[in-house]
Amino acid sequence: MVILSSVIDNKKSDDVMPTDSTRSVISYRRIIIRFILVISVMVSLNLYASWQGDDVFADSKDTVEKRVRTVSCSDDYVKEREKFPVCVPKWCGRIVMDNIVSKTEAQQLLRMAKAGLGLGGSHGGASILDIHSGALSKGDKFVDVFRTVKDKIHTAIAGAFGISKDSLYLTSPTFFSRMTSKPARTIHDEYWHIHVDKETYGSFHYTSLLYLTTYNQDFTGGRFVFVDKGRNTTVEPKLGRVSFFTSGWENPHFVEKVRSGTRYAITVSFTCDPDKAIGDPTMR
Ligand SMILES: *[C@@H]1O[C@H](CO)[C@@H](O)[C@H](O)[C@H]1NC(C)=O
Repeated sequence: MVILSSVIDNKKSDDVMPTDSTRSVISYRRIIIRFILVISVMVSLNLYASWQGDDVFADSKDTVEKRVRTVSCSDDYVKEREKFPVCVPKWCGRIVMDNIVSKTEAQQLLRMAKAGLGLGGSHGGASILDIHSGALSKGDKFVDVFRTVKDKIHTAIAGAFGISKDSLYLTSPTFFSRMTSKPARTIHDEYWHIHVDKETYGSFHYTSLLYLTTYNQDFTGGRFVFVDKGRNTTVEPKLGRVSFFTSGWENPHFVEKVRSGTRYAITVSFTCDPDKAIGDPTMR
C-alpha cells in the first residue's frame, strides 16, 4: 500500500520534469513491485497444486507406452534376498504400460469377467472370481487368452525389473474383480482400505493389474491410489492398461470407492518362491 501510494504521488508531481534520481527511484520501485507480484503468483500456483490433491501418474485419457516411478524399497526384501537372490527386487517402483495387452484381448477378458461374475458374486460392492477356481473355463477361449495375456505381463515385469523370467512365478490369488457403488456387506467388500499386498497375500513379490474398463467412461470413482507421504499418486484405470509394482511396504495402496458404474479388473500376481507357484488355469 505504502509503495503504491508513493508511486501515485510521484506520478502526480510529474508536471515537474523528474530528475534522474527520482526516475531511478520510480523504476526501482516498479521492479520491486513486479518482483513481489511474480513471487506471489508462483507461491499461489504452488499452493493451488498441492490443494488440488493427488498426483495423476497415469490419466485415463492418455496412452502411456511405459511410465516408471522409482520408490525406495522397504525392508521387506532384506531377509528374502538370500533365499531368492535373482528374483527379489533390486529396485522398487511402479510402472504403467498401455500397449502390451491388445484392446481385443482386454475386451475378450471383459466378456469373460462379466459372464463369470454374473453367475454369482457378493451382494456388496465388490466381487472377485479366482481364475483358478475353474468356474470360467467352460467351453471358451478363456484359458488361451488368459495365458497369452499373463505371459505378456510376466515378460514385462521380468524385463522392467531386470530379472530372469524363469525365476518369477504366477501365484495365488489371481482373480477377476468387479466393483460397484453398492454398499459393502462384509469386510471383504471394503476394497478402499489401505493395504500392502505382500502383507495381505503373503506370497506376492510383484503385483500386476490389468484394467478392463475405463475411469470416467464406464464408472466414476474407483481410481487406484498409492498412499505416499505428502501427496498420493493415482492410476486411472483404462481398458487394456497394465499397471505393476513391487508388493512390499513401499507401495501401500487402496482403490477409491466406485461412485457409479462398474469397474472390472484382473489382478495377476507373481512370486519369487517356487513353492508358492501355481500353474495356468486348466479347462474343465
Ligand atoms: C492419501 O490417501 C489417504 C486415504 O484416503 C488419506 O488418508 C491421506 O490423507 C491421503 N494423503 C494425502 C497427502 O492426500
